Amino acid sequence: MLALEKALRDTAREVEGVLDKILAEESGHEARLFESMRYATLGGGKRFRPFLVAQSAALFSVSRSAALRAAAAVELVHCYSLVHDDLPAMDDDDLRRGQPTVHKEFDEATAILAGDALLTMAFEVLADRRTHENGDVRAELVGALAKASGAHGMVGGQMLDLAAETIELDMGGITRLQRLKTGALIAFSCEAGAILGRASAEPREALRGYAHDLGLTFQIADDLLDVEGTMEETGKAVGKDAAAGKATFVSILGVERAREQAKLLAKQAVQHLANFDQSADPLRAAASFVVERRS
Ligand code: IPE
Ligand code: IPE
Ligand code: MG
Ligand code: MG
Ligand code: MG
Repeated sequence: MLALEKALRDTAREVEGVLDKILAEESGHEARLFESMRYATLGGGKRFRPFLVAQSAALFSVSRSAALRAAAAVELVHCYSLVHDDLPAMDDDDLRRGQPTVHKEFDEATAILAGDALLTMAFEVLADRRTHENGDVRAELVGALAKASGAHGMVGGQMLDLAAETIELDMGGITRLQRLKTGALIAFSCEAGAILGRASAEPREALRGYAHDLGLTFQIADDLLDVEGTMEETGKAVGKDAAAGKATFVSILGVERAREQAKLLAKQAVQHLANFDQSADPLRAAASFVVERRS
């Protein structure tokens, strides 16, 4: 097994354990809510954002348990975003991670509530002393994840994504959309390790540059998979962007040039890591993984 595959798999297993504990089942009339939150979160996904948190934290010798809690928090936000993204009012998808989407398995109201609860739970996790003993560090994590998730981040990007079905976007417009929709959470994932490790300005800046290029690469790959991938590989419906008339890098550049652009951005991402030693090798390898991924 490649070193990167192993690192991804190890993080996935470890973060699964943390998420399983955080999302302990409850009895009573709200049991269905917890069941749907567990359904949305456990047992699937690449856990790529947790991997980025774990690897950025490792650069600054952060304890594994602190890193995994921050990793779980970002995955909770990511899973919430997928539940709401799949709703009939948004992308109207029936399949996610190879299973029926939450609103299909449960119902629409439960899916909305599950998303709300996953989002808020992320901040509960970060605000807990077990994530970091220093209150300033916890407040910085909470602030950074809030910014990355909200109107100036992922939610803002989702709004632009809806607009992209009806308005013409040029490369600059698409780049901004993708930076917000996908890039912001990926950037937070890389920043979280630096926050936990109280890193100085210079490595933080380098990681920011890396995450910026990686986030764009990641979404171009997602858009390429929507055109070239299969439902079996991706665990979700494909061909949806073109059917919705959505402007993406692929719709503007075409498949070949979009792939070239993704490769270029991945290379650029790695260049930002020049001042790190071999401890950054998994992050370097992640850039190629993002371009080549089939799921
Ligand atoms: C899918 O994210 C949604 C995007 C932001 C592109 P992932 O490709 O990380 O999905 P999972 O977590 O592996 O299912
Ligand atoms: C979703 O982008 C990004 C989110 C913030 C959830 P997409 O709509 O392209 O993601 P998929 O293809 O459904 O996973
Ligand atoms: Mg969408
Ligand atoms: Mg979608
Ligand atoms: Mg997509």
